[in-house]
Parts: sequence; C-alpha cells; structure tokens
Amino acid sequence: MLILAIETSCDETSAAVVEDGKVVHSNVISSQIGLHKKTGGVVPEVAARQHLENINDVVNMSVKESGKTWDDIDAIAVTESPGMINCLLIGTQAAATISKVKGKTLIPTNHIAGHIYANWLENEEEVNFPILILSVSGGHNDLILMKGHYDFELLGQTIDDAAGEAFDKVARMVGLPYPGGPNIEKMALNGDRNRFDFPRALLNKAGFDFSFSGLKTAVKNAVSEFAEDEVPVPDVCASFQEAVFDVFVKRVKKVLKKHKVKEIHLTGGVSANKEFRRKMVENFPDLKLRYPSKISYCTDNAAMIGAAAYQKHLLAPDLFSVDTKINADAKIRL
Ligand code: KG4
Ligand code: ZN
Repeated sequence: MLILAIETSCDETSAAVVEDGKVVHSNVISSQIGLHKKTGGVVPEVAARQHLENINDVVNMSVKESGKTWDDIDAIAVTESPGMINCLLIGTQAAATISKVKGKTLIPTNHIAGHIYANWLENEEEVNFPILILSVSGGHNDLILMKGHYDFELLGQTIDDAAGEAFDKVARMVGLPYPGGPNIEKMALNGDRNRFDFPRALLNKAGFDFSFSGLKTAVKNAVSEFAEDEVPVPDVCASFQEAVFDVFVKRVKKVLKKHKVKEIHLTGGVSANKEFRRKMVENFPDLKLRYPSKISYCTDNAAMIGAAAYQKHLLAPDLFSVDTKINADAKIRL
C-alpha cells in the first residue's frame, strides 16, 4: 500500500511517500528552524502561516521525488492530533482536499503514534512485542507499553515540561541557538557532567510520570551565579543532560520491575541524542534497543505518519474511505 503522508503539527512542513509502512520513497521536510531562531521558539501563528506557504510545494516535491505518480498512491495520511491547532488545520485541510479531488482514502493519524512507528521505517528486522516506548520530544514526553500494533498503555508522561522543551529553554539560558537539543549535545561533549548536581524530580513518587520544570529552574539559578561571560557552558550542558537521561534510565528500571518487555524503543527529537542512546545501551544491555534508523525520522517528519497510518489501516480497513471524518484536535493523545 502506497501512502502519501502529511505532517504539520509543529514547525516542520513535511510530506512523504511510504510503502507498506516501511519503505520510504520520499520524505520532504521543510524546517522552519531559521524562522523560529529569532524568537528562540515556535510562535504558533507564525508557524501556521509558514505551513500554508509551504504545503503545496512540499506535497508536490514529495510525489516527484518518490518517482511515483498520483495514480500509484492508494491513500492520504495526515496528522490530526496532538499539536498546535492552527498548524494541524493546514495539514488536515490540505489532506482532505487532496483526498476528495484525487479520490483517495483518507487516514487521520496521531502524531505520537507516528513517533512510535518511526522505528518501523526502513527496518527489515522483526520487531518483538511487548515493547517499552520512550517517546521524548519538544511537545511531549511519554512512557508507553506497546503490547501489539495499536495496543498502547500509557504508563507515564510529563506533568509539566517535556524534556525537549527543557533542552530548548536551557540552551537559551546559556546563549545557544534554537533548537537547543543538538547544540547542548555538542557543548556537553567537552563538559563535566558532575560539576552541577541538578535535581531528578519525582523519582521517589509512585507511578512513572516525569517533571522537568524544576530542573529548568535549577539550571537558571546555577547560571545566575556567574557573570554573563563566565558561565561554564559545557559543564552546565553536560550536567543538565546527565540529569535528564538519569531520570529516564531510572524510570525505565522501575517499569521493568513491573512489566516484562522484549525491546526498548527510543523515539522523538531527543532520541537523536547519542549520549542518550549510549546510556540506555549501557544500562539495559540485555534488551534490544531501537531508535529511528535516521536522525530525520527522530524529529518531526511525514514518513513516520505514513508508517503509523499503514498499521492503523491494516487493522481496520473498512473504517477508512474518501469520506473519513477528520477531527483536528490540539490535545487528543494516543
Ligand atoms: O519530535 P520533535 O521534532 O518535535 C516535537 O514533536 O516536539 O522534537 C523536537 C525536540 C526539540 O526540543 C529539540 O531540542 C529536541 O527535540 N532535540 C534534541 C536533539 N535533537 C533534537 N534533544 C537532545 N539532543 C538532540 N540531539
Ligand atoms: Zn513530534
């Protein structure tokens, strides 16, 4: 099944052509990073206008790059939730219009399911359930037990900021550009991870939730102790990163005491971080660890939406047609 997928939930306008949820024929991503650098983050109204400007070109480019024709395409998939509502509306309107005009089945898809299925893209190996998913992005932070396709149990999530957002805010505090994650990762390479003992929140509380807003404040306080040009940026970055990943490792250890799993999957923008991957391998050597096969599949992209839509359609093909109702919603989660 050949799916044309569209993703516009945040600041990437993306369209992809994906076959059977695995083979990526094209994955065009028009990033708005340059635009949002000026504000140090994403302003929803600005992002939505940019999606509107980009969407036609991005979709046409994805079909052209795939080497396929419109006739070859079986269905249109699109992110309908969660995300910034005015951004989601651009993608869902575009998808619904293409579906009607070209007479293609429409498959509305969840963004977090997309991140989860990013680990199926260009992966020839068999994936074994149950899987513990750690989906860590700028807008969401979820710990999910996946027992089969679309059989998700949400074990924990952030009660305030997501880890990616903390990376972006901390980067700003130490004068590094948006997006913070890759820049903090680079700086941390030359830093001392033990210089600052930043807090690891909620670890003694019941359940598997996360909280990163206290960590953000702790970093802010530590930075304010220094004159502006004397902040030990590499040490702050390394100690901050260590605190975040330490929380993830401890959370996963706690889950594993209660739930038996065969694999651990990292996904979302923060899963691009090499130190994160290294720490997980080091702490869970007996479990199969997967993360998306390309960095571009970690951060927001449409190929992952094509993969998630394929599995959704496979489970209940009769639910989808040219007339499928789309419900763009900022909040609906998995
Ligand atoms: O999944 P994503 O593209 O968007 C959301 O759905 O939110 O994730 C973006 C987030 C940003 O906060 C960015 O700073 C973070 O992922 N990120 C990273 C790295 N690359 C991107 N965080 C840590 N290390 C990285 N290498
Ligand atoms: Zn995302």
